[in-house]
Amino acid sequence: MANTILIGAQWGDEGKGKIIDYLTRGVDVVVRTQGGNNAGHTIVIRAERYVLSLVPSGILHAGKVCVLANGVVIDPVSLCAEIAGLRKRGIHVGSDNLLVSDRAHVVLPHHRSLDAQREDRRSGRIGTTKRGIGPAYADKISRTGLRMTDLIDAQKFSARLRDRMREVNRFLKLQALAPIAAGPVQREYERAAAILRPHITDTVSFLHRMLARKMSMLFEGAQGTFLDIDHGTYPFVTSSSTTAGGACTGSGVPPNRIDRVVGVMKAYTTRVGGGPLPTEDEALSQCLHEMGREFGAVTGRARRCGWFDAVATGFAVKVNGVDHLAVTNLDGLDGLDAVRVCVAYRLHGKTIVVPPADVMDLAQCEPVYVDLPGWRKPIDHVRRYADLPPRARAYLRKLQALTGAPLKWISVGPSRSQTFLAG
Ligand code: GDP
Ligand code: IMO
Ligand code: MG
Repeated sequence: MANTILIGAQWGDEGKGKIIDYLTRGVDVVVRTQGGNNAGHTIVIRAERYVLSLVPSGILHAGKVCVLANGVVIDPVSLCAEIAGLRKRGIHVGSDNLLVSDRAHVVLPHHRSLDAQREDRRSGRIGTTKRGIGPAYADKISRTGLRMTDLIDAQKFSARLRDRMREVNRFLKLQALAPIAAGPVQREYERAAAILRPHITDTVSFLHRMLARKMSMLFEGAQGTFLDIDHGTYPFVTSSSTTAGGACTGSGVPPNRIDRVVGVMKAYTTRVGGGPLPTEDEALSQCLHEMGREFGAVTGRARRCGWFDAVATGFAVKVNGVDHLAVTNLDGLDGLDAVRVCVAYRLHGKTIVVPPADVMDLAQCEPVYVDLPGWRKPIDHVRRYADLPPRARAYLRKLQALTGAPLKWISVGPSRSQTFLAG
């Protein structure tokens, strides 16, 4: 199979984990290239539900190699807990199937505490996951971060961590913030380093060896296009490049070795955390929450829900160069009399079809809707496109026409079996 980048075409939680799992059968290597344990990718296999944060979703398939590449930020303690949790459930995780880049940056305790404190002080809260992601990327860009390569030699790591904690505590003091006791951090991180050491390697060279052997790769995007540090609804974004280009810088695999880009989107829109969401709809949110749907996989927070936004997803198709779309959660709209699609925004008396740069403007955008009749029957049992109600097919055709990319996969339920080809 081709080398594929898979990205979220909305605000995250599009069902990427489920589609990754579906596509993993045809690939050799699954690679995470950005983000960290702010991600929560859900995979349901028969009655078993797995939520993966850092470990690539390919781990649930025997015989696949999973890579945490250089663009990821890794909380070593959290990664060890995730590995232990998977092993407890009988999933094999070893140095043969989970490789961690020596260039990936390390999330330290002060990243988490700064993340939480900055959130509490902000007037317009981002609603971060408080996993220290933003501050860890800030240290990377400021060239003060520790990297996984620093964990390889126990003595050197101990000295580097001690030095870094000293600097951090000087900084915290200047900010009138409580210092972090270095001793417990030292012990906790040294324990995690010992566990992770066998996994740490030069993943760039590994991926190039795989390319030379014509092995196929699936790049597992985290978050979504509108959480991208450049293309998202800044400042209500995460701190990494969540769009397709980020997969290349985040892995060392060059753009000319990528064969296709897959965009995953829900049949409606959700967002967790702060920031504008033009098509947000109270009644739709309530309806989905009453069905027990749309609660965050990592934080359990209720997701904000809205109608499908073709202005946003159309933009995502362009920025990512999406070749194929996967539509998930089509079954979420089952009971509705009518379904709405946003085809443009009205802003300051004008009609626009691309999201404006300024979030204040985006917050003022009035969606222009097209209404379609609902199909008003359950579709979670459907396994073939042809068996979808005609109105559901008409809705999908509308999404395809408006976003400008062909729909390739349809998902009508959380489990592996509830996915089929479009058309
Ligand atoms: P990700 O972060 O993009 O991997 O998405 P999440 O796992 O955070 O959230 C997607 C949620 O939708 C999870 O609870 C999935 O199990 C669920 N899901 C995915 N596709 C479908 C679908 O087609 N129908 C239903 N009912 N649930 C789905
Ligand atoms: P997956 O991979 C949905 C959101 C947070 C917050 C903003 C910044 O499961 O789709 P951060 O902790 O990254 O600094 O938070 O981004 N966010 C996500 N929303 N899905 C995610 O990941 C997210 N990762 C971060 O809620 O609004
Ligand atoms: Mg998620």
